[in-house]
Amino acid sequence: MHTEHKIILGTSEQMLELPDCNVQLMVTSPPYPMIKMWDDLFAQADPKIAKLWQKLNADCQEETVTEIYGAMHDYLGKVWQEAFRVLVDGGIACINVGDATRTINGKFKLYPNHSRITEICEKIGFTTLPYILWKKPTTKPKYKGKGAFLGSGFLPPNAYVTLDCEFILLFRKGNLRKFLPHDKLRYESVFTKAQRDIWFSQIWTLKGTRQTVNQLERRTAAYPDEIADRLIKMFSVKGETVLDPFLGSGTTTKIAIKNERNSIGYETDKNLLPILNKKIGSKEIKELDLKIINR
Ligand SMILES: C[S@@+](CC[C@H](N)C(=O)[O-])C[C@H]1O[C@@H](n2cnc3c(N)ncnc32)[C@H](O)[C@@H]1O
Repeated sequence: MHTEHKIILGTSEQMLELPDCNVQLMVTSPPYPMIKMWDDLFAQADPKIAKLWQKLNADCQEETVTEIYGAMHDYLGKVWQEAFRVLVDGGIACINVGDATRTINGKFKLYPNHSRITEICEKIGFTTLPYILWKKPTTKPKYKGKGAFLGSGFLPPNAYVTLDCEFILLFRKGNLRKFLPHDKLRYESVFTKAQRDIWFSQIWTLKGTRQTVNQLERRTAAYPDEIADRLIKMFSVKGETVLDPFLGSGTTTKIAIKNERNSIGYETDKNLLPILNKKIGSKEIKELDLKIINR
């Protein structure tokens, strides 16, 4: 089947290239608020966030931390709002996100990104569906929020539960999708009973991406192919269009191509282009209907 793929090197805060009600599925993973590796990105993307970090250096106030956290979610919220606009009625949004734990001003606490995103998406008008927990087998327990549990961690009550799950939040825009009784492509997209039993259960135990990749690639915090593969097959039909507004290394595009779906990805970091080329495969890029648009 002929499919079309677009990668737009620019921000998805406004998806100018996309008309309303145009994509059937969003599969994405944003930068995670309050995770240190994404601090610079948020600060560069929104000067308000950079100023709040400066304010925190000066005032060391808990409220300023709360403002930073809120501002990071406001930034992501613009993208969720745009996703709502471009999804068709009945379209599904899948958002992979992890909560964050962090010690700031000497205080360790949880920043529950999954619940903040859920609140924001509800306000936008999405219907919240049951979510998936992605359990990663590798993460080490923590003691007082710092590093490994070590020997001191057997005494109550000051240790913390390890964040070894991420969320795959699921939302629907509007009503259930409607199809003609024997829609050919829908029937061609059928999954098996064994697949259904695993994919539609709430805990997915899957390893993260390889640790052997280079630094730039690690910085994309790519999700494993298997996550994109399951979500695309669960929530879209062959020939439909999948959007990833935070494309990173291009996992969603790669898996959309494999599964005969069209795709549109947005990515602000142009340095990722060689990684995108590598992931999708330059041979495939030449043969495919794939356009990379520098906004
Ligand atoms: C967690 S990574 C996505 C990883 C991706 N799922 C993968 O498999 O490689 C988030 C990406 O979003 C990009 N990004 C952040 N803000 C953006 C925006 N407003 N528009 C487009 N891309 C953005 C970052 O540069 C980063 O590459």
